[in-house]
Amino acid sequence: MIVLKNIQQAQVIFKNIRTKRQTIGFVPTMGALHNAHEQIILRSKKESSVTVVSIFVNPLQFGPKEDFNKYPKPFNKDLSICKKLKVDYVFAPTIKQMYPDKIVYTNISVKKYTGILCDKFRPGHFNGVATVVTKLFNIINPTKAYFGEKDYQQLLVIKQLVKDLNFTIDIVPCETFREPDGLAFSSRNKYLSKTERNQANVIYKSLLYCKQLILTKKFSLSKCINYSKIFLNKNILLPHKIQYFEIYDNNLSPVNNDVKQIKPNTTLRIFVAVYLGKTRLIDNMPVNI
Ligand code: PAF
Repeated sequence: MIVLKNIQQAQVIFKNIRTKRQTIGFVPTMGALHNAHEQIILRSKKESSVTVVSIFVNPLQFGPKEDFNKYPKPFNKDLSICKKLKVDYVFAPTIKQMYPDKIVYTNISVKKYTGILCDKFRPGHFNGVATVVTKLFNIINPTKAYFGEKDYQQLLVIKQLVKDLNFTIDIVPCETFREPDGLAFSSRNKYLSKTERNQANVIYKSLLYCKQLILTKKFSLSKCINYSKIFLNKNILLPHKIQYFEIYDNNLSPVNNDVKQIKPNTTLRIFVAVYLGKTRLIDNMPVNI
């Protein structure tokens, strides 16, 4: 496994790989690797000649009051996970390498999927993501890039970016991997205290609960949401706050509140964001009606 920190050196190496007509599978990460990352890396290894994992905690996608400084950065542990999985290259640039001018003069802003869900509560977040991902795509020039469905809005933003900027990269959505009790894997789970962790799977249960309510077709979507919020509030016995609990279609378009009016074979998606103590957790679940 080769660890690359220098952008110019990385560009030469990745260009050579593509010249040899080898395919590059790219797994972008902010480190603090967990089981879901491992599954995605294994998938990339199966589907491409060379797998590149980037480890870069991108300051641009954190708001001024967010957790950039305390975001977990267990770099050596991350490297040993990548080594164990036989990753070919880890690309881990410094902040100075990625943003040499301190001020970032060029920003990528995808003006779709805005004003809802995470974009509503984390203004500027997706600009930060789109900007760093564009830079990473330009440096690595992958054949395929893997993005988890847990960050569903991010996945759609990246797909739009690839379409609009004519990148010839295949964006591969990866299903959400969960702990045995249903909690979606996330680097932020590391922030949870033991008691918070024990109750965090109520978030997943509330999505299942909402899905079941929708499928009965007895209630409007707003009622399903209200009942699910009540379920969540009743079952998490620790300080918490629901930031959003919403339902859209799979393309993040609003859907008819009356389930019976929605065309059969439509896939809806339930989205939730919850502060459990100080930790913000997000999750989502598709519902085929
Ligand atoms: O999903 C993430 O871990 C990050 O948003 C990403 C895509 C690596 C960009 O920093």
